[in-house]
Formats: sequence, C-alpha cells, structure tokens
Amino acid sequence: MTLMTSTDPGPSGSLRIAPSVLAADFGELAAAVATVTPASDWLHVDVMDGHFVPNISIGPPVVSSLRRHTDLFLDCHLMITDPGEYLEAFAKAGADGVTVHAEVDGVETVLAEARALGLRVGLAVNPDSPFEAVDPYLEAVDLVLCMTVFPGFGGQSFMPEVLPKIRQVRQAIADRGLSVDLEVDGGIDATTTPLVTEAGANVLVAGSAVFGAADPAMAARGLRDAAVPMAAG
Ligand code: DX5
Ligand code: ZN
Repeated sequence: MTLMTSTDPGPSGSLRIAPSVLAADFGELAAAVATVTPASDWLHVDVMDGHFVPNISIGPPVVSSLRRHTDLFLDCHLMITDPGEYLEAFAKAGADGVTVHAEVDGVETVLAEARALGLRVGLAVNPDSPFEAVDPYLEAVDLVLCMTVFPGFGGQSFMPEVLPKIRQVRQAIADRGLSVDLEVDGGIDATTTPLVTEAGANVLVAGSAVFGAADPAMAARGLRDAAVPMAAG
C-alpha cells in the first residue's frame, strides 16, 4: 500500500493560481471548486486548529470529500500547532502537499515525515518571521510560503513589508540552484499580484479575490493575467 498521491503539481517555478476554499461557501464546496477548476492550477486548503491561529476551519474529512470531487493538486496549509500528529491523516485523505509553519516545534522532523509519506512538502513563515527561519530548510522543501497577512482569517489586507523577504527567498533559491516554489498567501488580488510576482512569487493563493467575485473563474484568470512573467535564469 502506498500513500503517494498522483496529482501532478506542475513544473517547479511555473506560475500557479491556487484559490483558497476558505472563502468559498462550505455548504456548496464541490460546486465552488467546479466553478474555479478551469482557471486554477492548485486548490489551497486552509487548516486551522484554534491554537496556532485564533480560528478553526477544516481538517482531513473535508480534504477527503474534496478529493472525491477534484483532480486539482490539494495544497494543504496547516496552521496547526502539532502538524506531525496529523500528517498521516492528511495523506490518507488525499492531500497532495502539506505546508507546515516554521514557527512550530520540531519542523525538521515534520518535514521529513511528510516527505516519507509521499507528500509534497512546504514551509510557511509568518510576516514577522525572518528569512533566517526558512533558510536552513530550503534544501529540504518543495515550497516556501511567505504569508502576506498574519494567518487565521481571509479577507485581510496585503502586507507590503513582506516583499523584501519574498525577494530574499527567490534569490536564495536561484543562488542555490534549487527547484522550490515560492507561494504567497493573504490579500492577493489583481492589484497585489504584480508586486508579489515581480518579487519572485510563483504560486498565488487567493481566497476573497476569487470566491468573493461575481465570476470566480474570471477572477482567477485575472490574477494570471496580472502576474509579471519571471525573468529567465
Ligand atoms: C489565511 C489563509 C489564507 C486565506 C487567504 O490565514 O492562510 O489562505 O484564505 O484569504 P484572502 O485571499 O482573502 O486574503
Ligand atoms: Zn492559506
């Protein structure tokens, strides 16, 4: 038996639009996902435990339900204090990638456990955590997530003070010749997309800007159109 999932994440470093279902109608989740699917690359799933962040959202059962309704890459953002306790449950539920926060204890072990389960592995940093919080793990991850709001809630305003860190991460990825995606999450819309993509982000998470729009698929396409193409090399 294997827990490996087969959803293709696409080539590292390519532009990916990842709507966050946190902003969708949880009572109509499958329909909401179907609406954005033609315009999306990944689906971002925000998991909150009421401890690491002051909010509670969803967990493995909902990932499992989503898995039955979509072939999109399920990008699970674990805003939880003890991610290691739940990795296997997320893998079994059909998660493709898990991103854990650098601010929790035992990050190195958790990253290794996630990898051993066949998951794509990400490391997130809060807006006030420095580049140095991810620097030692760059070789051990597939993705770095620079939070552009403090995690816990959708609909917050983008924090431009995170842009220098995004540049720093992109530079380090290039300098070290790594295949690591650089994701941003929080307040991403058609106005902030040029800023984050110019700084080096290639995976754009957007909740309100997509699911809050009258036409979510068109809004997702609008993000793709607003992205600044990454310079070669
Ligand atoms: C916030 C979550 C985000 C959230 C983003 O803690 O990690 O993924 O859904 O929502 P918007 O795009 O509305 O800022
Ligand atoms: Zn998120």
